[in-house]
Amino acid sequence: MSNGNDRGQWQSRAGFIAAAAGSAIGLGNIWRFPYITGKYGGGAFVLVYIIFLIIVGYPIMNAELILGRKTQKNAVGAFRTLAPGTPWSIVGWMGVAAGFIILSYYSVIGGWGIAYIFKTATYMAKNADHVNIFINFITNPTAPLVWHAVFMAITVGIVMAGVEKGIERYSKFLMPALFIILLILIVRSVTLPGAAEGLAFYLKPDFSKLTAEALLAAMGQVFFSLSLGMGCMITYGSYLSKNEDIPINSIFIVASDTLIALLAGLMIFPAVFAFGMEPGTGPGLTFITVPAVFNAMGTGGAFFGILFFILLVIAALTSAISLLEVVTAYVVDEKKWDRKKAALVVGILIFIVGIPTSLGQGIWSHIRPIRGLDILDSYDFIASNVLLPLGGMLIAIYSGWFWGTEKMREEGNLGAKSIKLGGFFDILIKIISPICIFIIFLNSIGILKV
Ligand code: PHE
Repeated sequence: MSNGNDRGQWQSRAGFIAAAAGSAIGLGNIWRFPYITGKYGGGAFVLVYIIFLIIVGYPIMNAELILGRKTQKNAVGAFRTLAPGTPWSIVGWMGVAAGFIILSYYSVIGGWGIAYIFKTATYMAKNADHVNIFINFITNPTAPLVWHAVFMAITVGIVMAGVEKGIERYSKFLMPALFIILLILIVRSVTLPGAAEGLAFYLKPDFSKLTAEALLAAMGQVFFSLSLGMGCMITYGSYLSKNEDIPINSIFIVASDTLIALLAGLMIFPAVFAFGMEPGTGPGLTFITVPAVFNAMGTGGAFFGILFFILLVIAALTSAISLLEVVTAYVVDEKKWDRKKAALVVGILIFIVGIPTSLGQGIWSHIRPIRGLDILDSYDFIASNVLLPLGGMLIAIYSGWFWGTEKMREEGNLGAKSIKLGGFFDILIKIISPICIFIIFLNSIGILKV
């Protein structure tokens, strides 16, 4: 199973798109995007987000898929193949590390989601105190760990089954399910009396909130949401055949990810306002405000609440699969392990590394490793604000300046039909995106304060 010829390959274009969009669409869209949009000025933030998406997200999406398909290797192997004997493989390493770290806490939150499918059914009592329900749950030292284990076990099971029979097969049925559930919830939400106010809050631009911090958040969100900067798309690109159209597929992935993020806001804000809740509750928006909204809906609320958390878990699962696949593909390709053993052992290790992030909500909440953040937020800070942008910048610099845009375009345009990568792409990947990331990155780690 582990020799390079038998690594697996996507069976259809739809299968690849489902898997790659499944990776991109995740907690980042359903949970993170709506609350940071609310925090940083609604429509104004969305505008900046879309600009970064085009000038940074799109070129790096292409670059990663191209590196993967060219080398047919994992994140580390891709650099080892193209730049043997140079330090560039460190970029792949950083990616594997980021995948490891992100999945460890992602799975904890995914576990909360599974627990809430059941909790929503039982806590639909009148006047339930959703703040306390949530706090009591996440501060409990054991229950969330059990759900973390359940979430990880499902992820491991799918990755063990392989690229076609696991990742592709499940993504092809989970992603349409996600879309249908989202549409049902939006229709319910925007038809509530008082929903218009929520729409206005969500979409009306407030440029006064567009601070340097907001720009940083937008950039970090682009990387996190598109699964970029850590070799995830290198890995998924490595299972692409030569006649697949990379520039168009990249547009598809970027567009569907953005559409779902925008729709998630459309689902949440009208409902939040219709029931007079507080929209700026930060990360708690999903687990506190949303259940409270469904609760307030009365009849039918439990049904929509359960649907919401099923949606959340599906989104999280298809992303978790891709995170585990980054590390698994590395072990399979480079260490020649059997896929099943690799996925299982890596999954168990990631589960263990995730335990402190769960305990950090309760008995270990006094541990604040970085900038006063709890353990989960510290992991997230290292991965999303440091490793992903740094990885993305190095991927852009490597592809544009070292491997060279000519070779990139040659590979990227194989199979490209309607749009071909040309001079504009060269400028984006060589100059614009690395410079943008660099400025924002320095700002984020506090060296440069804009
Ligand atoms: N893109 C996923 C989300 O939005 C998270 C993720 C990040 C997945 C990096 C893979 C790699 O939730």
